Amino acid sequence: MAKYRIAWLPGDGVGKEVCEAAKIVLDKVNLDAEYINGDIGWEFWCKEGDALPQRTIELLKNCNAALFGAITSKPIKEAQKELIPELQSKGLTYRSPIVRMRQLFDLYICLRPCKAYPGNPLNYKENIDIVVFRENTEDLYIGVEFDKIPEVMFSIPEFSKIPKDAKISIKANTKKGSERIIRAAFEFARKNKRKKVTVVHKANVVRVTDGLFLETAREVAKDYPEIEMDDANIDAMTMWMLKNPFNYDVLVAPNLYGDIISDLAAQLVGGLGFGCSGNIGEKLAVFEPTHGSAPKYYGLYKVNPIATILAAKMMLDWLGEKEKANLIENAVAAVIKEGKVRTYDMGGNSTTLQMAEAIASKI
Ligand code: IPM
Ligand code: MG
Repeated sequence: MAKYRIAWLPGDGVGKEVCEAAKIVLDKVNLDAEYINGDIGWEFWCKEGDALPQRTIELLKNCNAALFGAITSKPIKEAQKELIPELQSKGLTYRSPIVRMRQLFDLYICLRPCKAYPGNPLNYKENIDIVVFRENTEDLYIGVEFDKIPEVMFSIPEFSKIPKDAKISIKANTKKGSERIIRAAFEFARKNKRKKVTVVHKANVVRVTDGLFLETAREVAKDYPEIEMDDANIDAMTMWMLKNPFNYDVLVAPNLYGDIISDLAAQLVGGLGFGCSGNIGEKLAVFEPTHGSAPKYYGLYKVNPIATILAAKMMLDWLGEKEKANLIENAVAAVIKEGKVRTYDMGGNSTTLQMAEAIASKI
């Protein structure tokens, strides 16, 4: 029996192509793993009314980790129209499978390293090395939204401030949820000899929930006296990150702000082709490129697979296979530095699989 069971979830569009590329690299490091294909994505929404079928959830329960490609999603009304006729009248709502996986398996850490590999023509500046810790299960992502506010809510005095015809989305943040992601960020900083953790929030306006996040960070920071803590409002933070990206080391944020700053941080180091992500819980972790399924590129084998290859590298780190993880990262760095094989985003015309082969050849 293989040492690891890895759920293999390519999903839609170019998700399939970048996973194929990552497999070439994983095979080269000889990971002792069984890769089990799982159904996920648009096709299963249209045919079964569920983009994350129960059998895939069962598969994930029996795996050590998963590699996930990308998913196509559409606005609720459009999604409904693409269901097979038998499902049209069932009143099903499309929900993002990745958000569901994060919540179902309590994958509370969203880890997004953003490193400027030397020689990448897409680097905003050289030497950027930012690691984002994004809370991954609560905040505005809990999915509690009201298209019409139930009358009973207006019996709560504060609700008189809300227009009757407003739609509302609930932001819910707990002490436990805040504390565990902040602690994960500080633990990472300690282990990796990082100097600073910056807490991103909007506590000057969103006083209760973001106030909780900031206050919790100040408490947790006391346990890590060797690490500097600072904090910034999300709006100012987007300016500072562009103005002086070297000032930032480890960032920690509630879910939505983390979503926003992790895209910004990824763009500083090359954009979509380089943004990799780990959704990490106590028992399971799901690794993915942060880009989408790019339907217009599907079939062309054009997109950059480095984000997914770096996600596979993160998976190896998480499994405790440090040596193999380093082999992959060094090979990626070597190909970028050499500059001979470049996908279209990097100004070249190499294909997805040529990039994967080039990386594998350095291992
Ligand atoms: C991400 C993505 C997802 C998110 C989408 C696809 C639901 O933007 O992983 O950052 O908002 O979390
Ligand atoms: Mg995002």
